[in-house]
Amino acid sequence: MESATFVLFGATGDLAKRKIYPALFQLFVEQQLPSSFSVIGLGRRELSHEAFQSNVAQSLLTFSRSEMKDSVVMEQFLNAFRYHVLDVNRREDYTKLLSLVEDREVELNITPNRMFYLSVGPEFFETIATNIHESGLGSARGWKRLVIEKPFGHNLESARQLNQTLNQAFEESEIYRIDHYLGKPMVQQMGQLLQSALTEHDLRTRTIASVQISAIETLGVEERAGYYDHAGALRDMFQNHMLQLLMMLTIEFPKPSSAAEGVKRKSQIIKSLMPLNKRKVSQHVVRGQYGAGMIKEKPVIRYTDEAGIASDSQNDTFIAARLQVDDSFWKNTPIYIRTGKRLKEKATRIVIEFKSEGPLKDLLIIEIGPQEGIYYLKRQSNHELSEDETSLRSQPNLMNKGVDGKDAYETLIHDALLGNKAYFAHWNEVELSWEWVQPIMDAYQENLIPLHVYPAGSYGPQEASDLLERDGFHWWFDKKQTSVNDVTKGELFTYEYTN
Ligand SMILES: NC(=O)c1ccc[n+]([C@@H]2O[C@H](COP(=O)([O-])OP(=O)(O)OC[C@H]3O[C@@H](n4cnc5c(N)ncnc54)[C@H](OP(=O)(O)O)[C@@H]3O)[C@@H](O)[C@H]2O)c1
Repeated sequence: MESATFVLFGATGDLAKRKIYPALFQLFVEQQLPSSFSVIGLGRRELSHEAFQSNVAQSLLTFSRSEMKDSVVMEQFLNAFRYHVLDVNRREDYTKLLSLVEDREVELNITPNRMFYLSVGPEFFETIATNIHESGLGSARGWKRLVIEKPFGHNLESARQLNQTLNQAFEESEIYRIDHYLGKPMVQQMGQLLQSALTEHDLRTRTIASVQISAIETLGVEERAGYYDHAGALRDMFQNHMLQLLMMLTIEFPKPSSAAEGVKRKSQIIKSLMPLNKRKVSQHVVRGQYGAGMIKEKPVIRYTDEAGIASDSQNDTFIAARLQVDDSFWKNTPIYIRTGKRLKEKATRIVIEFKSEGPLKDLLIIEIGPQEGIYYLKRQSNHELSEDETSLRSQPNLMNKGVDGKDAYETLIHDALLGNKAYFAHWNEVELSWEWVQPIMDAYQENLIPLHVYPAGSYGPQEASDLLERDGFHWWFDKKQTSVNDVTKGELFTYEYTN
């Protein structure tokens, strides 16, 4: 790997402490960083290099998964770190930063390859990219790369605007958009695992009856009220993570001839999604918001009573949708997606249901989190799963080699340093995803679709189940609803809406 400087904006923030430093340290311990490596941390607060290094050390002691926390290894790692005070809006700070970066490049005798990692709010992305360009930080003889995290805009127009500005400083090939779902080992190995599971069980891919993709969680809005109340489940999860999972799965059928072809096919998949008309969105989409309820036997308040949320907020904390990929392979296979907060359990899972001659439907289950695995369930009875079947861990896990607990940030930072863009979101995918969800955002905005309030601790509004039942399917692996709180009749909680 080529030597490089890792310039980290937001070096005093939460993401840096919890994810970025532990990931860099893990790569260092595994000798997967360049032998000469320089890290320059940036933030507004005044810190000496030593104080910064000691903060990084503290975050490693708290969050690193590495066993190697002995002082010699840590010290070698921390030696690479320097700190610089920078306010993203102050142009002169970038000039001083350039001097520091160059001094370190000379001192360490490294090529001026620079990776700019923006671990700051998205409102700063454009300012930083422009200042990197204008200060000359981005015009050294080596490569330059920009790493950013979602959200990439809050709608199609703002995403285009953001991209245009970024493109004045960085080419598309230099922009690495992190969607951390793409860094999950299970998602990266999905294609290969699926193909071997299908071969092993002699399943023809043409016999897929339906696909379900769920990413559900028990947490509520927590500390993120300010951001979340403007984003909702649609922008926070659906437009990016959920559509990425859909792309990653569907590109595997039929098997792409190469990894590069697979990446190209991702955009084609989004392009072939049947477009929605905002007036008909309610036929395909269920919008929900959590009410009060019980999570793990503890009472929890409704969304509109959460701190920082307006009492009349119409924001969505749940979405379920029926999608159709209109290409020759997927034409007749419905794909159901749901994601939401304050639901009965935490799970990220894909279930592929196969057609069968008789009533028994075999299932292929891909568990992405909290645990990872791929299971083939040969069904004994159709509707109700036996206890043995619902406990997936009693089934053979077809993922024969462990994924060694790698964190998504380790894989993604390593790939970005190598210049491997396979598991980053390309602009085409981002733009097409925003285009596809725009009618849903319009329907929400114009109140053309009801907002169903569901009890916390359920699986969302009943209407999310009705969406599948209309086609003769049901959500697999939902635990039985047992208490009064689990009653999920959406109509009871429906807000007024116009149609
Ligand atoms: N935390 C997570 O788990 C997580 C997960 C995924 C994505 N993200 C995204 O990652 C980004 C950072 O999140 P975070 O949780 O780390 O936020 P955070 O804890 O609030 O940290 C923000 C960082 O930005 C710096 N900053 C703020 N204003 C600045 C300015 N004007 N000039 C220079 N630096 C400035 C802060 O440093 P000073 O205060 O020293 O200036 C701090 O280092 C956000 O966009 C977030 O959406 C976070």
